[in-house]
Amino acid sequence: MCGIVGVVGSTNATDILIQGLEKLEYRGYDSAGIFVANENQGQLIKSVGRIADLKAKVGDAVEGTIGIGHTRWATHGKPTEDNAHPHRSQTERFVLVHNGVIENYLQIKEEYLTGHTLKGQTDTEIAVHLIGKLVEEDGMDVLEAFKKALSIIEGSYAFALIDSENTDTIYVAKNKSPLLIGLGDGYNMICSDAIAMIRETNEYMEIHDKELVVVTKDSVEVQDYQGNVIERDSYTAELDLSDIGKGTYPFYMLKEIDEQPTVMRKLISKYTDETGRVTVDDDIVKAVQDADRLYIIAAGTSYHAGFASKNTLEALTGKPVELGIASEWGYHMPLLSQKPLFIFISQSGETADSRQVLVKANELGIPSLTVTNVPGSTLSREASYTMLLHAGPEIAVASTKAYTAQVATLAFLAKAVGEASGKAEAKAFDLVHELSIVAQSIEATLSEKDVIAEKVETLLGNTRNAFYIGRGNDYYVTMEAALKLKEISYIQTEGFAAGELKHGTISLIEDGTPVLALISGDEAVAAHTRGNVQEVVARGANALTIVEEDLAREGDDILVNKVHPFLTAISMVIPAQLIAYFASLQRGLDVDKPRNLAKSVTVE
Ligand code: G6P
Repeated sequence: MCGIVGVVGSTNATDILIQGLEKLEYRGYDSAGIFVANENQGQLIKSVGRIADLKAKVGDAVEGTIGIGHTRWATHGKPTEDNAHPHRSQTERFVLVHNGVIENYLQIKEEYLTGHTLKGQTDTEIAVHLIGKLVEEDGMDVLEAFKKALSIIEGSYAFALIDSENTDTIYVAKNKSPLLIGLGDGYNMICSDAIAMIRETNEYMEIHDKELVVVTKDSVEVQDYQGNVIERDSYTAELDLSDIGKGTYPFYMLKEIDEQPTVMRKLISKYTDETGRVTVDDDIVKAVQDADRLYIIAAGTSYHAGFASKNTLEALTGKPVELGIASEWGYHMPLLSQKPLFIFISQSGETADSRQVLVKANELGIPSLTVTNVPGSTLSREASYTMLLHAGPEIAVASTKAYTAQVATLAFLAKAVGEASGKAEAKAFDLVHELSIVAQSIEATLSEKDVIAEKVETLLGNTRNAFYIGRGNDYYVTMEAALKLKEISYIQTEGFAAGELKHGTISLIEDGTPVLALISGDEAVAAHTRGNVQEVVARGANALTIVEEDLAREGDDILVNKVHPFLTAISMVIPAQLIAYFASLQRGLDVDKPRNLAKSVTVE
């Protein structure tokens, strides 16, 4: 969702911006633009659609030593060229890009901008007009005007501002939206995500909320809004350029699905010591032991990973686990237990909804653990503790390897806490061995891609809706399976507890409705789910069964190698990921960049 990249002091600003924007594409966007300048002139180029469209417009003609670029995911105003960023002030002297939502933009317009002509409907354009007015109509210097504007603006933002009359500085500020500084030799950069700068630098500096940064080619000065200079050390990130290439894959999603066995093995190496014993940071183990209840807060796929981990966490730690949708808990925090621990699950570590809950938890003094793929992300920095997913960058909007890594990482947490607390079930659970079996099970499913692709064609062809059903852990997996299918194939899909379908929703079953049943674990439970399959088939549904091999019966469609019941959420989701992938592919859709969606949702 909205990406920012900027550079000052480089002789090929245009190339750096375009390459940076390409790397930010995965976040989700519907228009893009750049502003590039040298001492004499600046050029603004914007385009609706893909970065490729912008690139075609830019051609070779645009050169400069400073620039800012932006991918926009529309919030205020449609995805048009006028609404695309960068935006300019009334006299076109100031140029601004923004990620976030300015809540009082209409009030600012009425109070400060009478007589101003706005080209589009965005909140951002109002911000740059305000800065321009403060300089050109009220006589403030640029830094003073930027600070004044920041004191007026309410909401979330990452801003990057250029004064086209003084093209050696980028002014930056942030509140709640992500932004990083990248440090180079003779140039400096800014970006929403380190991934977009790793070609140029591996040295970064954080910006905290309500800080302003003045960036030139050889200096970076961080200040608070009162003008006090803040000393901040830079850090080096371990990102590998080869991790973010697609290689020979047609889509990132397929590459990321295929990487899952490797991710499982990597997690084993990261969460075990040299003797093969499971190790999780002692402070984290103690924080769980000290809590009387664990609250998992997350959004989207990460929320589903929370459900998929609930049974394992409860069984091995003995602590009750409650789930919270981040966008709800930000406003309606339920009655909490005496000693809560909040666990935030987030691939990106930047989801604004989750962060909103974390801010509240910190205000209330509630300890917190973030389980994330991105070291140094906002949720990681601001929580008491962090566990990393070690899944490597996930680029496809539809999350796959992060989900399975989340479930596996929380299993390590459950095992470590259970063992430290002397729980017999935790001691008996050989997670390292069981996770190796999971990795093999994933590999076995991945080798069945052709069979799965064929079944998808027959079952989902031109359908407009579908259902996933399952019980227990399989029910939790149906939530994720349904999300995966609907988000990239646009087939309206619901995940249902198999026994619940008959209490209302079964009325939607008609001739040809696809019903996909997940069946793993216990034979007796499996028999009930099979009964539910019969109920829908009797009403005309086309059923597809995805079954653990020891429970298989003649006629089952996809068999999955058996794994430990605590880990079926990983093995059973793999066919569902592939089903979603092939359904999207067969419909000719952009698998990695489904419409309207963003990878990193940085607005509430
Ligand atoms: C977006 C993405 C989802 C993701 C959710 C939570 O909606 O499209 O794939 O699951 O955000 O993201 P997080 O980074 O917090 O896991």
